[in-house]
Amino acid sequence: MNLDGIISGVLNSGPGKAVAAALGFPEATPLRRGEAMPANPLVVSAVGGASTLVADALRTLDLDAEAAVVDVPEARSTDENGRERPPAYPGRIGAIVVDATAAARVDDLEQVRAVLRPAVRAVEPSGRVIIVAGDPATASDVEGAAVRQALDGIMRSVGKELRGGATSNLVQVADGSTADELAQVLRFLLSGRSAYVDGQPLVLADGATGPRPEPRIVVVTGAARGIGAAIARRFAADGATVVALDVPIAGEALAGVANEIRGTALQLDITVPDAGDRIAQHVVERYGPDARIGAIVHCAGILRDKMLANLDEKRWGAVLQVNLAAQLRINDVLLRPGRPGGLADGSRIIGVASTSGWAGNKGQTNYAASKAGVMGMVRALSAQLADRGIVVNGVAPGFIETDMTASIPVIDREIFRRSSSLLQGGRPADVAETIVFLADPGTPLNGQVLRVCGQLIVGR
Ligand SMILES: NC(=O)c1ccc[n+]([C@@H]2O[C@H](COP(=O)([O-])OP(=O)(O)OC[C@H]3O[C@@H](n4cnc5c(N)ncnc54)[C@H](O)[C@@H]3O)[C@@H](O)[C@H]2O)c1
Repeated sequence: MNLDGIISGVLNSGPGKAVAAALGFPEATPLRRGEAMPANPLVVSAVGGASTLVADALRTLDLDAEAAVVDVPEARSTDENGRERPPAYPGRIGAIVVDATAAARVDDLEQVRAVLRPAVRAVEPSGRVIIVAGDPATASDVEGAAVRQALDGIMRSVGKELRGGATSNLVQVADGSTADELAQVLRFLLSGRSAYVDGQPLVLADGATGPRPEPRIVVVTGAARGIGAAIARRFAADGATVVALDVPIAGEALAGVANEIRGTALQLDITVPDAGDRIAQHVVERYGPDARIGAIVHCAGILRDKMLANLDEKRWGAVLQVNLAAQLRINDVLLRPGRPGGLADGSRIIGVASTSGWAGNKGQTNYAASKAGVMGMVRALSAQLADRGIVVNGVAPGFIETDMTASIPVIDREIFRRSSSLLQGGRPADVAETIVFLADPGTPLNGQVLRVCGQLIVGR
């Protein structure tokens, strides 16, 4: 067994767990994943007045009896010393949805504290805290904007205090948001599909939903293994026809994935100058002259970590080319209006960034540059393509257990896992679930990069 295996084994053994606990590392709770909704009742609470938007969205969710909505407990009690005890729930709650869409004054925030206080202890393992509010950018006055932003700070801190795999997220609605759009986001956040999305604002955009281009051809780059393979599998399970793309050297693994999901394999290095044309050509050859791409996920990526003092031109160039420049070139080609085998109107582009692109990371100047670049691409392109109904979003995974992260030294790996609020690494499927959510024509997000990181703060 190599050193990695030994240290990992020690940390995960009985005595190792004891040492980890003694060092202040609490144990991770297995997360509720997949379609599963919370097991216990849902609590809905309004701050500064309930909105019909939230009430209608929750009605649309059509929750089953077990997830029935209950009210925040009103009754306070006093202990033997006459001290007031806060209201408490009689049992576990599955989730609390705080409708803070009317919150506009600093005093309104006290109500948020009051309803969340009993909830943080009562929420079940893998339960949910969801705050729904307005977007600070569209508040009618400065105090309103400040209060809406304050809710973001509350949400992030609650995420760090919750235990047992429970998460906290904020949904910022737009002026034109509909109940169906909000329901689409709430359904994702309440379900196990969002297991590793934590401490995250989701900003709803107007005009981002529309009909789905048919047939559903989805191109996934880097699909031979890791996160890309999980994305390809998840789209196929959702009924899409998948073009799985990866470098020729990964051809065997790629063919394995493509066969398993009844998609097609395209062996291609995305950095070759005609990569965009080759993708379009493949789509036409395999699916006919009128076929168009419904979604492309730019997942292929590489690491060439070095401290900047040792970072040469080759390592810099390789990462910038694969992780950023190739995607920009491919988009340019596939976005030409009317391009056979190109992106359809109403299609979706999804970039794969990284939390390193937000926070920066030692030894990753090249990687962080490329991933922050992906975020810039998402924002700029989404604004440009709005009139064609093409929606562009991204995900920023944190520490996900794949071959790529297996190359990180084992101690660093343990630190990454335990630095997240959920005390564990994510799975490729967690990223895939979020990407399928973003690619759904009913999802009202545009120009956003969602972190799938369990609220990891990278960077030392
Ligand atoms: N694993 C993580 O924790 C993590 C965190 C943040 C971001 N990401 C990003 O997620 C994506 C997938 O990561 P992963 O962990 O699954 O990596 P991985 O190394 O397991 O898989 C990456 C795939 O991309 C392919 N690829 C590399 N260069 C290519 C090229 N020039 N042309 C075509 N294909 C190419 C590889 O052959 C490989 O199959 C990457 O963009 C990565 O930067 C991963």
